[in-house]
Amino acid sequence: MKALVLTKNGFPMKHATAPQIPDGLHYRARRERLLQTVRKTYGGGLVLMPTAPEMFRSRDTLLSYRPESYFYYLSGFPELEAVLALSCDSAGETRHLLFCREKNLERETWDGYRFGPEAARETFSFDEVFPISALTEQWPTLAMNQPALLTPLGLYPDWDSAVTRRMGVLRAQARSGNTPPACIVDVRDLLDPMRMFKDEQEIALMRHAASITAQAHVRAMRFARPGHFEYQIEAELQHEFLMHGAQAAYSPVVASAENTCILHYTNNRRQINTGELLLIDSGCEYQSYAADITRTFPVGCRFSAAQKDIYELVLAAQRACFDALKPGAPFHAFHDAAERVLAQGMIDLKLIEGSLDAALETGSFKRFYMHRAGHWLGLDVHDAGHYRRGEHGEAPTLLEPGMVLTVEPGCYIRADEDVPAAFHNIGIRIEDDVLITKDGIDILTDDAPKSVAEVEALCAE
Ligand code: GLY
Ligand code: MN
Ligand code: MN
Repeated sequence: MKALVLTKNGFPMKHATAPQIPDGLHYRARRERLLQTVRKTYGGGLVLMPTAPEMFRSRDTLLSYRPESYFYYLSGFPELEAVLALSCDSAGETRHLLFCREKNLERETWDGYRFGPEAARETFSFDEVFPISALTEQWPTLAMNQPALLTPLGLYPDWDSAVTRRMGVLRAQARSGNTPPACIVDVRDLLDPMRMFKDEQEIALMRHAASITAQAHVRAMRFARPGHFEYQIEAELQHEFLMHGAQAAYSPVVASAENTCILHYTNNRRQINTGELLLIDSGCEYQSYAADITRTFPVGCRFSAAQKDIYELVLAAQRACFDALKPGAPFHAFHDAAERVLAQGMIDLKLIEGSLDAALETGSFKRFYMHRAGHWLGLDVHDAGHYRRGEHGEAPTLLEPGMVLTVEPGCYIRADEDVPAAFHNIGIRIEDDVLITKDGIDILTDDAPKSVAEVEALCAE
């Protein structure tokens, strides 16, 4: 593993410059690729893609707004109350339209800047942009005589009912000689294969998110001391994210002692004692792209013998995962590799009985390792993309350059398990983010230390 190079103020050197944000033409090229697939698949069609509605946190207080990921992938447009309307005819002629909020100086005084149609068209490279209020009126003209309507189905109930209602109205008007789209399909089926391959600009943003996240984990390791509450460690992570213009991509897991064995623990209220393990699963989102790192370390002292045994085992499982990742490998190969190493290690440590074959056959090791070894990563932390292919999902997805996934084996031994007490409350996960390259892999999160020696040294600082 690469040595961690630190500047005088302790920041990893790699952190120098933030990557460039994609411009409107970049998004337009993406939309164009989608539309050419629509033409090839359906002979043309209309794509209607709404962004996310805003959500209340309590009473009249809103959650911080985040655009819908598919919408954002195609537009880069950050505002709520917006719908993309993209069309392609059988000759491949395309139109890129956006419906968005109008300028409104009074509302902008309260809520902030709005692009409005004119600036939105210019900035995000649309052919035309209309006020969102014009969508109902324009819908029939846009959808009539299109072979297919492509839109998300089952994503937003209000959108679903608007789509079916409007299709009903169109059908009722068929006597006018216009034909409504013969099929409605989920546009995400065409977008998922695109989102599985990250382009150069996406990779640059993901590297940056990974780098900020690695730095946050380093900060947390240095800060954590016996007596701290888990939320105080979370504050250090959030500080690092915000200082870099990022935010948490998901609720951070800051879990000590028995909480390390709760996979989705986010309560983060417990006080940490000397010698307990701290498992931190936390990643930032930078310009809408996520990182996802887990590190586990002892607080206030070095690893105990039992903690070290399990830690080294999980680390060995992760190395086996890395060895199984290369172009052409089936997606599940690295998960299988993790299971083999972890099951054998549990047998060697007498945590489970029987042969390796029997453990794999019966799944006895799942008592201590019950989740998958990784997932796609991108705009969403559990990103869009297929894990199986073929009409009936009969074959696994094969890895290809440009795909990004997490690698996160773990081992979790609760205090009620019938194993020596030294192993109780040991929950360890080690998670990194990996780009598949033409030669193998590039570990985007390598700046987050994880060898026993590195982790113990950082925690002792
Ligand atoms: N942070 C969620 C996960 O690791 O999948
Ligand atoms: Mn993950
Ligand atoms: Mn994670």
